[in-house]
Amino acid sequence: MGPPMNEHAKPLTLSERADELEERMMHELGERIATKSTLFNIADGKVEMPNGPALKAANPDKYFLMGADPRLPKMPAKPTLIDFFNNRFASLNHLLQSATHALKGGHSEKVVLACLLHDIGVASFIRADHGYWGAQMIEPYVDEEVSWAVRTHQALRFFPDPSVGYEYPEMYIKYFGADYKPEPYIVREYERARNHKYYMTSRLICVNDIYSFDPDAKVNLDDFVDIIGRNFKQPKEGLGFDNTPSSHMWRTLMWPTRFL
Ligand SMILES: [Fe+2]
Ligand SMILES: [Fe+2]
Repeated sequence: MGPPMNEHAKPLTLSERADELEERMMHELGERIATKSTLFNIADGKVEMPNGPALKAANPDKYFLMGADPRLPKMPAKPTLIDFFNNRFASLNHLLQSATHALKGGHSEKVVLACLLHDIGVASFIRADHGYWGAQMIEPYVDEEVSWAVRTHQALRFFPDPSVGYEYPEMYIKYFGADYKPEPYIVREYERARNHKYYMTSRLICVNDIYSFDPDAKVNLDDFVDIIGRNFKQPKEGLGFDNTPSSHMWRTLMWPTRFL
Protein backbone atom coordinates (compact mmCIF):
# COMPACT_ATOMS: atom_id res chain seq x y z
CA MET A 1 0.00 0.00 0.00
CA GLY A 2 1.28 3.44 -0.85
CA PRO A 3 1.43 6.34 1.55
CA PRO A 4 -1.93 7.89 2.48
CA MET A 5 -3.08 10.78 0.36
CA ASN A 6 -2.82 14.03 2.19
CA GLU A 7 -4.77 16.77 0.47
CA HIS A 8 -3.26 19.49 2.61
CA ALA A 9 0.32 18.63 1.83
CA LYS A 10 -0.31 18.96 -1.90
CA PRO A 11 1.67 21.90 -3.25
CA LEU A 12 -0.47 24.77 -4.46
CA THR A 13 -0.83 25.21 -8.18
CA LEU A 14 0.49 28.40 -9.73
CA SER A 15 -2.96 29.89 -10.04
CA GLU A 16 -3.84 28.94 -6.45
CA ARG A 17 -0.66 30.67 -5.34
CA ALA A 18 -1.57 33.74 -7.43
CA ASP A 19 -5.05 33.79 -5.86
CA GLU A 20 -3.53 33.56 -2.41
CA LEU A 21 -1.17 36.41 -3.18
CA GLU A 22 -3.99 38.50 -4.60
CA GLU A 23 -6.01 37.80 -1.46
CA ARG A 24 -3.13 38.80 0.80
CA MET A 25 -2.53 41.98 -1.17
CA MET A 26 -6.19 42.90 -0.87
CA HIS A 27 -5.93 42.34 2.84
CA GLU A 28 -2.93 44.58 3.25
CA LEU A 29 -4.78 47.27 1.36
CA GLY A 30 -7.54 47.37 3.94
CA GLU A 31 -10.56 49.19 2.64
CA ARG A 32 -9.33 49.86 -0.88
CA ILE A 33 -9.19 47.83 -4.07
CA ALA A 34 -5.94 48.32 -5.98
CA THR A 35 -6.09 47.66 -9.72
CA LYS A 36 -3.40 46.62 -12.15
CA SER A 37 -3.16 48.45 -15.44
CA THR A 38 -3.23 46.43 -18.65
CA LEU A 39 0.54 46.87 -18.99
CA PHE A 40 1.18 44.81 -15.85
CA ASN A 41 -0.87 41.93 -17.25
CA ILE A 42 0.65 42.26 -20.71
CA ALA A 43 4.03 41.76 -19.03
CA ASP A 44 2.70 38.41 -17.79
CA GLY A 45 1.73 37.45 -21.33
CA LYS A 46 -1.98 38.21 -20.92
CA VAL A 47 -3.83 40.92 -22.79
CA GLU A 48 -6.25 41.56 -19.98
CA MET A 49 -7.52 44.29 -17.77
CA PRO A 50 -9.38 44.07 -14.48
CA ASN A 51 -13.12 44.10 -14.77
CA GLY A 52 -14.26 47.08 -12.68
CA PRO A 53 -17.89 46.05 -12.13
CA ALA A 54 -16.87 42.46 -11.22
CA LEU A 55 -14.22 43.64 -8.75
CA LYS A 56 -16.70 46.03 -7.18
CA ALA A 57 -19.36 43.30 -7.00
CA ALA A 58 -16.89 41.00 -5.25
CA ASN A 59 -15.98 43.76 -2.78
CA PRO A 60 -19.24 45.67 -2.29
CA ASP A 61 -18.02 47.39 0.88
CA LYS A 62 -14.78 48.66 -0.62
CA TYR A 63 -13.84 51.59 -2.83
CA PHE A 64 -11.21 51.50 -5.53
CA LEU A 65 -7.87 52.97 -4.60
CA MET A 66 -7.52 56.44 -6.07
CA GLY A 67 -4.40 57.66 -4.30
CA ALA A 68 -1.30 56.36 -2.58
CA ASP A 69 -0.85 52.59 -2.44
CA PRO A 70 -0.21 51.68 1.21
CA ARG A 71 2.06 48.79 0.17
CA LEU A 72 4.57 51.19 -1.37
CA PRO A 73 7.01 53.50 0.43
CA LYS A 74 5.31 56.75 1.39
CA MET A 75 6.10 59.77 -0.77
CA PRO A 76 6.10 63.34 0.54
CA ALA A 77 3.54 65.87 -0.66
CA LYS A 78 6.12 67.64 -2.85
CA PRO A 79 8.43 64.88 -4.03
CA THR A 80 11.92 65.60 -5.27
CA LEU A 81 14.11 63.58 -7.59
CA ILE A 82 15.93 62.28 -4.50
CA ASP A 83 12.59 61.05 -3.08
CA PHE A 84 12.01 59.08 -6.27
CA PHE A 85 15.54 57.68 -6.09
CA ASN A 86 14.93 56.52 -2.54
CA ASN A 87 11.35 55.30 -2.81
CA ARG A 88 10.56 54.34 -6.40
CA PHE A 89 13.73 53.30 -8.21
CA ALA A 90 14.12 49.56 -7.81
CA SER A 91 17.91 49.59 -8.00
CA LEU A 92 20.43 52.38 -7.60
CA ASN A 93 23.70 50.49 -7.76
CA HIS A 94 24.16 50.59 -11.53
CA LEU A 95 23.24 54.28 -11.77
CA LEU A 96 25.52 55.25 -8.89
CA GLN A 97 28.41 53.17 -10.23
CA SER A 98 28.11 54.73 -13.70
CA ALA A 99 27.95 58.24 -12.28
CA THR A 100 30.85 57.56 -9.90
CA HIS A 101 32.88 56.26 -12.83
CA ALA A 102 32.14 59.42 -14.82
CA LEU A 103 32.94 61.64 -11.84
CA LYS A 104 36.29 59.92 -11.32
CA GLY A 105 36.98 60.28 -15.03
CA GLY A 106 36.79 64.07 -14.60
CA HIS A 107 33.78 64.55 -16.86
CA SER A 108 31.48 67.58 -16.78
CA GLU A 109 28.52 67.74 -14.41
CA LYS A 110 26.18 67.28 -17.37
CA VAL A 111 27.87 64.00 -18.25
CA VAL A 112 27.83 62.86 -14.61
CA LEU A 113 24.12 63.72 -14.32
CA ALA A 114 23.39 61.96 -17.62
CA CYS A 115 25.14 58.84 -16.27
CA LEU A 116 23.25 59.08 -12.98
CA LEU A 117 19.91 59.27 -14.80
CA HIS A 118 20.59 57.20 -17.91
CA ASP A 119 18.66 54.09 -16.80
CA ILE A 120 15.95 55.59 -14.61
CA GLY A 121 13.52 54.32 -17.26
CA VAL A 122 14.59 50.77 -16.37
CA ALA A 123 14.91 51.40 -12.64
CA SER A 124 11.44 52.89 -12.33
CA PHE A 125 9.20 52.24 -15.28
CA ILE A 126 9.81 49.80 -18.07
CA ARG A 127 12.79 48.15 -19.73
CA ALA A 128 11.65 48.38 -23.34
CA ASP A 129 12.76 51.67 -24.93
CA HIS A 130 14.00 52.77 -21.52
CA GLY A 131 16.21 55.51 -22.96
CA TYR A 132 13.18 57.19 -24.50
CA TRP A 133 11.05 56.86 -21.36
CA GLY A 134 13.83 58.11 -19.11
CA ALA A 135 14.59 61.09 -21.34
CA GLN A 136 10.93 62.05 -21.47
CA MET A 137 10.67 61.97 -17.69
CA ILE A 138 13.60 64.34 -17.17
CA GLU A 139 13.28 66.55 -20.24
CA PRO A 140 11.57 69.53 -18.54
CA TYR A 141 14.13 69.59 -15.72
CA VAL A 142 17.55 69.20 -17.29
CA ASP A 143 19.66 70.77 -20.01
CA GLU A 144 18.68 69.39 -23.42
CA GLU A 145 22.18 67.94 -23.70
CA VAL A 146 21.41 65.62 -20.75
CA SER A 147 18.00 64.41 -21.95
CA TRP A 148 19.27 64.00 -25.51
CA ALA A 149 22.14 61.88 -24.23
CA VAL A 150 19.86 59.70 -22.09
CA ARG A 151 17.45 59.16 -25.01
CA THR A 152 20.17 58.33 -27.49
CA HIS A 153 22.20 55.94 -25.34
CA GLN A 154 19.34 53.52 -26.09
CA ALA A 155 20.72 53.26 -29.64
CA LEU A 156 24.42 54.06 -29.20
CA ARG A 157 24.88 51.17 -26.78
CA PHE A 158 24.62 48.75 -29.71
CA PHE A 159 27.30 50.39 -31.85
CA PRO A 160 31.04 50.50 -31.16
CA ASP A 161 33.10 53.68 -31.28
CA PRO A 162 36.82 52.85 -31.42
CA SER A 163 37.71 56.56 -31.03
CA VAL A 164 36.82 56.27 -27.33
CA GLY A 165 37.55 52.55 -26.99
CA TYR A 166 33.89 51.56 -26.82
CA GLU A 167 33.17 48.02 -28.02
CA TYR A 168 29.87 46.21 -28.51
CA PRO A 169 29.16 44.92 -24.99
CA GLU A 170 30.27 41.34 -24.32
CA MET A 171 27.25 41.12 -22.06
CA TYR A 172 24.84 41.76 -24.95
CA ILE A 173 26.23 38.71 -26.75
CA LYS A 174 25.49 36.69 -23.62
CA TYR A 175 22.07 38.28 -23.10
CA PHE A 176 20.73 38.53 -26.66
CA GLY A 177 22.78 35.99 -28.61
CA ALA A 178 25.63 36.50 -31.04
CA ASP A 179 23.32 37.05 -34.01
CA TYR A 180 21.09 39.69 -32.40
CA LYS A 181 20.57 42.72 -34.64
CA PRO A 182 19.04 45.96 -33.31
CA GLU A 183 15.71 47.00 -34.83
CA PRO A 184 15.88 49.29 -37.88
CA TYR A 185 14.58 52.26 -35.85
CA ILE A 186 17.55 51.86 -33.51
CA VAL A 187 19.95 51.76 -36.47
CA ARG A 188 18.37 54.94 -37.84
CA GLU A 189 18.59 56.62 -34.42
CA TYR A 190 22.29 55.78 -34.31
CA GLU A 191 22.84 57.16 -37.81
CA ARG A 192 21.06 60.40 -36.94
CA ALA A 193 23.04 60.70 -33.71
CA ARG A 194 26.50 60.27 -35.21
CA ASN A 195 26.86 63.86 -36.36
CA HIS A 196 24.83 65.49 -33.62
CA LYS A 197 26.44 68.15 -31.45
CA TYR A 198 25.72 66.12 -28.30
CA TYR A 199 26.89 62.81 -29.71
CA MET A 200 29.87 62.55 -27.36
CA THR A 201 27.77 63.18 -24.24
CA SER A 202 25.61 60.19 -25.08
CA ARG A 203 28.65 58.18 -26.08
CA LEU A 204 30.17 58.91 -22.68
CA ILE A 205 27.11 57.34 -21.05
CA CYS A 206 27.99 54.15 -22.97
CA VAL A 207 31.64 54.37 -21.93
CA ASN A 208 30.66 54.73 -18.27
CA ASP A 209 27.77 52.26 -18.50
CA ILE A 210 29.65 49.66 -16.53
CA TYR A 211 28.24 46.28 -15.63
CA SER A 212 31.15 44.88 -13.67
CA PHE A 213 29.38 45.62 -10.44
CA ASP A 214 31.66 45.66 -7.50
CA PRO A 215 29.44 44.81 -4.54
CA ASP A 216 32.03 46.38 -2.22
CA ALA A 217 32.38 49.63 -4.12
CA LYS A 218 31.26 52.50 -1.94
CA VAL A 219 28.68 54.36 -3.96
CA ASN A 220 26.28 56.78 -2.39
CA LEU A 221 23.56 59.05 -3.68
CA ASP A 222 24.82 61.69 -1.21
CA ASP A 223 27.85 62.18 -3.45
CA PHE A 224 25.54 63.49 -6.19
CA VAL A 225 23.13 65.67 -4.24
CA ASP A 226 25.03 68.87 -5.13
CA ILE A 227 25.28 67.97 -8.82
CA ILE A 228 21.55 67.23 -8.86
CA GLY A 229 20.92 70.54 -7.08
CA ARG A 230 22.87 72.50 -9.69
CA ASN A 231 21.65 70.63 -12.78
CA PHE A 232 18.14 69.31 -12.12
CA LYS A 233 15.46 72.01 -11.87
CA GLN A 234 13.46 70.66 -8.98
CA PRO A 235 9.92 72.12 -9.24
CA LYS A 236 8.74 73.82 -6.06
CA GLU A 237 5.32 72.11 -6.37
CA GLY A 238 7.01 68.70 -6.39
CA LEU A 239 7.58 66.36 -9.33
CA GLY A 240 4.15 65.37 -10.60
CA PHE A 241 2.38 68.59 -9.65
CA ASP A 242 4.18 71.14 -11.77
CA ASN A 243 2.20 70.83 -14.99
CA THR A 244 5.00 69.87 -17.38
CA PRO A 245 4.69 67.41 -20.31
CA SER A 246 6.08 64.66 -18.06
CA SER A 247 4.35 65.44 -14.74
CA HIS A 248 1.90 62.60 -15.32
CA MET A 249 4.76 60.11 -15.58
CA TRP A 250 6.04 61.04 -12.13
CA ARG A 251 2.51 60.90 -10.73
CA THR A 252 1.91 57.45 -12.22
CA LEU A 253 5.14 56.24 -10.72
CA MET A 254 4.10 57.65 -7.38
CA TRP A 255 0.54 56.23 -7.53
CA PRO A 256 0.71 53.31 -10.00
CA THR A 257 -2.39 51.42 -8.85
CA ARG A 258 -5.01 54.15 -8.97
CA PHE A 259 -8.20 53.03 -10.69
CA LEU A 260 -8.04 56.11 -12.94
FE1 LIG B 1 20.57 51.84 -20.64
FE1 LIG C 1 23.12 51.30 -18.03
